[in-house]
Amino acid sequence: MKMSEINLKKVAVVTGGTKGIGQGIVLELASRGFLVYALGRNLPEMNNYTQDSTLAENIHFAKCDVSNFDQVSEVFSSIVKEAGRIDVLVNNAGITKDGLLLRMKETDWDAVMDINLKGAFNTSKAVARTMMGQRSGRIINIGSIVGTTGNAGQSNYSASKSGLVGFTKSLASELGSRNILVNLIAPGYIQTDMTANLTKEQLKAFVSNIPLKRAGLPEDIARVVAFFAGVDSSYITGQIIHVDGGLAM
Ligand SMILES: NC(=O)c1ccc[n+]([C@@H]2O[C@H](COP(=O)([O-])OP(=O)(O)OC[C@H]3O[C@@H](n4cnc5c(N)ncnc54)[C@H](O)[C@@H]3O)[C@@H](O)[C@H]2O)c1
Repeated sequence: MKMSEINLKKVAVVTGGTKGIGQGIVLELASRGFLVYALGRNLPEMNNYTQDSTLAENIHFAKCDVSNFDQVSEVFSSIVKEAGRIDVLVNNAGITKDGLLLRMKETDWDAVMDINLKGAFNTSKAVARTMMGQRSGRIINIGSIVGTTGNAGQSNYSASKSGLVGFTKSLASELGSRNILVNLIAPGYIQTDMTANLTKEQLKAFVSNIPLKRAGLPEDIARVVAFFAGVDSSYITGQIIHVDGGLAM
């Protein structure tokens, strides 16, 4: 793709964009005309990722471990060099390492914090100067309802997602004067690899507690990301929106 073609498009970077919710976000933004960089630790084949060749033209993959500060700086510099700008950053990469506190290893705590929380610091720091120079930008953090409710067996994960709430509101205050909007989407139960270990019975019991009586899909999150990435949300910043079928009210 020629530089002149790239520059006509808005540019989005989605961390953990290689599968699950991140893949849904990448496809949604690409379908709305964004040039999207999907970052991940392991990169998929485009043929397995999407069969839609028009969408594929708008998608680039790049290897990047969000917990590695230097690697993040390098990858974001090369994206700016190649695409000329970054309009939207979606901090979606996340992991779980569940366990009750007494059994949780220090490495389980650190890994979750390093990826879910410090990862968002690393990437936001890497785009802030570019967005400030542009006098525009959107940072969209993917939290979780357990960042509000807590969850037994997920003290590390819940703490990382609560941390993202404070991070979102602080950045929204810091960057608002430069027209950089920062918001957080808190998904409920979404069907991806992260939640694939529930048995059919567990899933049925879980879904019965969701007012909308169904599990969420990556598209349910992706469409709200598109809202926060677009003109319809131009006067919204520092907000947390639960996308959970009513599970946490
Ligand atoms: N699935 C759910 O029910 C649910 C609910 C609430 C919040 N979330 C959040 O949504 C986000 C996406 O979750 P998902 O369900 O799609 O999970 P997933 O396991 O399917 O995908 C996670 C993605 O993050 C990437 N990733 C992990 N560690 C990384 C690292 N160090 N650097 C870069 N990328 C990394 C993976 O490669 C993958 O692309 C996560 O932040 C998760 O906490 C998910």
